[in-house]
Amino acid sequence: MTPLDALDARRSVPAKQLGEPGPDAPTLLRMLRSASRVPDHGKRVPFRFLRIAGDARRALGEALAARTLELDPDAADSVVEKDRQRFSHAPLVIAVIAVLDAEDGKIPEIERLLCAGSVCFALLQAAQALGFGASWLTGWPAYDARILGLLGLGAQERIAGFIHIGTPKLEAPERERPDATALLTDWVSNRA
Ligand SMILES: Cc1cc2nc3c(=O)[nH]c(=O)nc-3n(C[C@H](O)[C@H](O)[C@H](O)COP(=O)(O)O)c2cc1C
Repeated sequence: MTPLDALDARRSVPAKQLGEPGPDAPTLLRMLRSASRVPDHGKRVPFRFLRIAGDARRALGEALAARTLELDPDAADSVVEKDRQRFSHAPLVIAVIAVLDAEDGKIPEIERLLCAGSVCFALLQAAQALGFGASWLTGWPAYDARILGLLGLGAQERIAGFIHIGTPKLEAPERERPDATALLTDWVSNRA
């Protein structure tokens, strides 16, 4: 497969369709090595990885369920159960954390966030290249201060994405893709 074929073949596998086995530790590190090779203005490395695997997935799910009930004591059982299971489908979830150092006035925050987002995309590509399926998800847990504290994020850190990784249980259907032709315009100078 050429590099272009690999880009064209990328697609998400829904977290519920990701099963065992997940990547072992050396394979994960291989993926993270590729994912870390992103463009990085000022070489700030504005990202880090947090592994959520094994029993930690279930512990996090329990915390999410409790938080949902705390925010809405009348939450439907199905909602609470969805949150309980959120991190338990795929064998492995890597939280890609954007490190947005406010002291760093030279590199705009958006550029550090874009860098961390690029890591998420590269990690999806690396997982698929190694025969795994993956999905880039966020959802409310990525934006809830209590959950972010539980995950150990600092005040200047954000979740760029939770990358769920495992073995696809079925071939994910392709979805309609944007028409690049329709997205492309030419800039033309108005100056005479
Ligand atoms: C920053 C970000 C967050 C996302 N969060 C979610 C999410 O919480 N739930 C979801 O269903 N899809 C989410 N998606 C979309 C999926 O990752 C995926 O792109 C989508 O299902 C389309 O599939 P594709 O990757 O094959 O194009 C998110 C995408 C991005 C870029």
